[in-house]
Amino acid sequence: MKPVLFLLMPVCFWMMPVSGGHCQSQKITDFARDIAPILRGNCNSCHSGDNAKNGFVVLDRDAFLGFVEPGSVVESSIWTDYLVQPTKHKKRDSLVMPPDGPLQASELALIRLWIEEGAQWSVVPQSVAESSPSFLRRVFLAFGYFHPALVHFPIALFLVGGFCAFLSYFLGPKCQSTAFQSLVLAMLASVVTVIMGWGFAENKGYPAWNKMLSYNATHHEINFFYHRWLGTLTALLGIACVVAGLIARRNKSSSWNHGWRIGAMLLAVLVALVGHQGGELIYGDIFEKAIERLLR
Ligand code: HEC
Repeated sequence: MKPVLFLLMPVCFWMMPVSGGHCQSQKITDFARDIAPILRGNCNSCHSGDNAKNGFVVLDRDAFLGFVEPGSVVESSIWTDYLVQPTKHKKRDSLVMPPDGPLQASELALIRLWIEEGAQWSVVPQSVAESSPSFLRRVFLAFGYFHPALVHFPIALFLVGGFCAFLSYFLGPKCQSTAFQSLVLAMLASVVTVIMGWGFAENKGYPAWNKMLSYNATHHEINFFYHRWLGTLTALLGIACVVAGLIARRNKSSSWNHGWRIGAMLLAVLVALVGHQGGELIYGDIFEKAIERLLR
């Protein structure tokens, strides 16, 4: 990455007289093209519509420009008080926006340049401005709030399924059918829970599905990335195991029968990991706190 920046330096020097000199009207940033998508993607989930946090609607021109001093980032409170604050897990009372960590460097750079260039707010085209979500999408988002409640069912059922699958190697067919029934229920509950999880993430303004892939991902983004994708993987593996179990029953095949039971045991481990991670996202590192309590 760094050598590329060095190569770009002559370009920057070449551009300096353009932006500061005779060609002052030519701006590099354009609100509708560069800034609105950032605000929409990172702020709208909490700052739009009637329930906007603190009544602050981010794509409302007057509301947003109330926090901006055109031409000066250091006098713009949106910059100093919100966008470049330390993340919450480093400083508890931080007002950093979005609350789960600062924007990416490239996004901050664009906003900074836009403010320095005079913070001109061009009209936001309809495609960029907020449009009312469809009915299905509203249902998806509304049910998202039940993710933390429902999530306990697949966790418990996968654990029971895995444990009974393990016991079935010693105690025989009775445990095996309990294992399979738990697995089917766990799989159904996990599919619903994962869909709700994706909705919950949007409601909470959690990082995008691919956010960890950026080079400056925060601890929270990395944690969340794994939680989202390992959770999704759990549901998919659950489906695969149930299918394997059905094939085993139909063909009376012992290798398929081993397959789904081993899968069920793996799923119990996986769901424990994903569940712990989810807990950490909401409650912080409880293991660390518990051990600290125990030893002190
Ligand atoms: C997950 C929800 C969430 C997201 C996403 C979010 N905010 Fe906020 N924002 C809040 C909450 C909650 C408050 C109120 C904080 C408080 O008063 O302690 C707030 C307050 C603010 C305020 C102060 C408003 C006022 O009038 O007091 C500004 C400005 C702000 N946010 C800007 C942003 C910007 C810009 C983004 C996107 C880069 C953003 N927020 C993303 C939740 C969010």
